[in-house]
Amino acid sequence: MPALERRHFLKLAAALGATLVVGCSPARPSASGWRERRDLFPQGVASGDPDAHSVLLWTRRPYADGREGATLQVEVAEDPAFTRVIATAAAPVLAAADWTCRVLVGDLPPAGEYWYRFVDAEGNGSRIGRTVTAPAPDDPRPARFAFVSCQSLPEGAMNAYRKMIFEDERAAPEERLGFVLHLGDFIYEVVQYPEQVKDGKRYDRVITFPVKKFANGKAVANNRFMVPGSLDDYRALYHAYLLDPDLQDARARWPFVAMWDNHEFSWLAWQSIQEFPGEGRIPAQTLKVAANQAWFEYQPMRVTPPGRQITSFEAPQVVDTPVTGFDDTGLGQEANNLVAIDSLIAYRALRWGRHIDLILTDQRSFRGPDPSNRDEIGPLFEGVRFPFFPEALSMQVDSGREFANGRPPAKLSFGDKSIANYRASEPAQSMLGAKQKVWFLECLRGATATWKIWGSSLGTPDWRIDPQNLPPAMLPPDWMKWSDGYAVLSNGDWGGMYHERAQIFDAVRDAGITGFAIVSGDRHSFWAGYAARALPPAAFEPVGVAFVGGSITSPGMQEAYEHGKKDSPLRPLFIADRADGRMEPTMNLLLHHGVRSALEYASSGDLAKAHAVGNPQMAPHLSFVDMGGHGYATVRVDADTMATDFVCIPRPIERSRGVDGGPLRYRVRHEVPLWRAGEKPRMRQMVLEGDAGLAV
Ligand SMILES: [Fe+2]
Repeated sequence: MPALERRHFLKLAAALGATLVVGCSPARPSASGWRERRDLFPQGVASGDPDAHSVLLWTRRPYADGREGATLQVEVAEDPAFTRVIATAAAPVLAAADWTCRVLVGDLPPAGEYWYRFVDAEGNGSRIGRTVTAPAPDDPRPARFAFVSCQSLPEGAMNAYRKMIFEDERAAPEERLGFVLHLGDFIYEVVQYPEQVKDGKRYDRVITFPVKKFANGKAVANNRFMVPGSLDDYRALYHAYLLDPDLQDARARWPFVAMWDNHEFSWLAWQSIQEFPGEGRIPAQTLKVAANQAWFEYQPMRVTPPGRQITSFEAPQVVDTPVTGFDDTGLGQEANNLVAIDSLIAYRALRWGRHIDLILTDQRSFRGPDPSNRDEIGPLFEGVRFPFFPEALSMQVDSGREFANGRPPAKLSFGDKSIANYRASEPAQSMLGAKQKVWFLECLRGATATWKIWGSSLGTPDWRIDPQNLPPAMLPPDWMKWSDGYAVLSNGDWGGMYHERAQIFDAVRDAGITGFAIVSGDRHSFWAGYAARALPPAAFEPVGVAFVGGSITSPGMQEAYEHGKKDSPLRPLFIADRADGRMEPTMNLLLHHGVRSALEYASSGDLAKAHAVGNPQMAPHLSFVDMGGHGYATVRVDADTMATDFVCIPRPIERSRGVDGGPLRYRVRHEVPLWRAGEKPRMRQMVLEGDAGLAV
């Protein structure tokens, strides 16, 4: 390799906190003496964030004999038998990095397939991993990837990965997945100890206890859960998760591209501030740094660690200090908060051939305080028995002084109650923070691939419902009559971030960007539809398409409602209980077609009739909602079309014994032809296999 190129890769590897491996020529048979000892590399191997010329490799080789470090050899080959080894290098593992190892392989040709493994000084070897490099930026061939999220290990089985592997192994080489995009909740930091689990179960799940008890754990939420209290506690989570055979096999088969969501740090946290039910704000700068460090150690991604050591994360010293002063985007100005957040910047962009610019944003580290859970709003809901939040109020509270182009109402009202608009002079909410937003919009405007794919851990579609159409007779006399128009089932993600979401979508429109598509997770359900700033009666003007992938394991809202109160008068909106004990998810119809549709189906069981009484003004942004779907999604793009498949499996309660990951519930495709500037995107839905039930 020319000296200049070598310097480039050396600099890159140093920036990424990785050891550099570059090609040796000619290719030669392995001379490492590798003998597989998976027990000595218990978390397997992984690769991540490939570009057209390099990819990061990862393993963990722990020692328990008191030493501080050891040296492994890494081998990269063009064949799984390692007869054509193209690169080898010594790579350190350190106790200080929890014995994890990050290696950047540089100087590889684009669109290549490679195998890699690690060997210790005694010849003990890791399992073999497979990885690929990205196609060159002008490569016109179609490209494919999968996107996944939410894999609570104590609550379910990772059958989705097994199915993905089974299908990919049988696919033609050109139809195989290039990478797996993981959109967060790779681990769940909230765990339960046996004594915290009532009857051993949660919903349909028998809870297991794969995670070692935290050394510094803390009980939260009325002693319902335990959460980590130290770096070692976060590491213990990754140790346990990566012992899962399906997850480990997936990491060994494809490069992953990972972005965290909330549970990689803390359930209800924002910036470095934790919140738990009933506890208020808890400054947690040290834990935010610990969570970042563990993520860095276990996710081989193109992110830059703090400090100057290239082999380990030099955690900045921070002190847990209350965060009180916030700037106009809600960013806490307290010095330790800023240091903790900046200890690892995970937002980044990747190019994959001619057709994919993938832009990943961080929804947790810069997000401002939630204005809808403030004390001031309490009087509006005093004595009110109605479980939905009005959409109008949700918009006013989100947008603050920006509401209605800078003309917010003086009062916030609900039914016959009103309060002073405490948000009238406050800035709009921000999910991304100022710096990330500038970066994100620049990436979008500068993207030149056919498809500009925004990977967001959080979903963007509105969670709108139309309780104004409920029959009055359905409500108990002491429930307030709903008169305020639409309501929302949730406002915690982009669906309730009206102002900032509109800024992003307006930027897409104003720049004439086509091929804008959002892939996301977190909702533990499958959604397909359009990206639009507003819904009727406002102008509905989609600027792109939006998808939410079902969870790998974590229980969704359907499962929760199945176990909810059977005698609630509103139950038929969510679940229809049949005489034979079956429970049907009318909530899919509720979100997609409105209350009349859900109630019609609950009483008649006739889907055509239910669709016929739907409210077409309520959710033109949706074409598919399955609140009980689990599995994964795949995306295939070329110069003309984006095809997104939802691969849905049965509720993953037990590990499937088959090599195919078990049965399929359905495979549904949403196909979007590339549109031209000024045109609206249109999607076509196809049920390729199985039965999507009430989701369509
Ligand atoms: Fe989740």
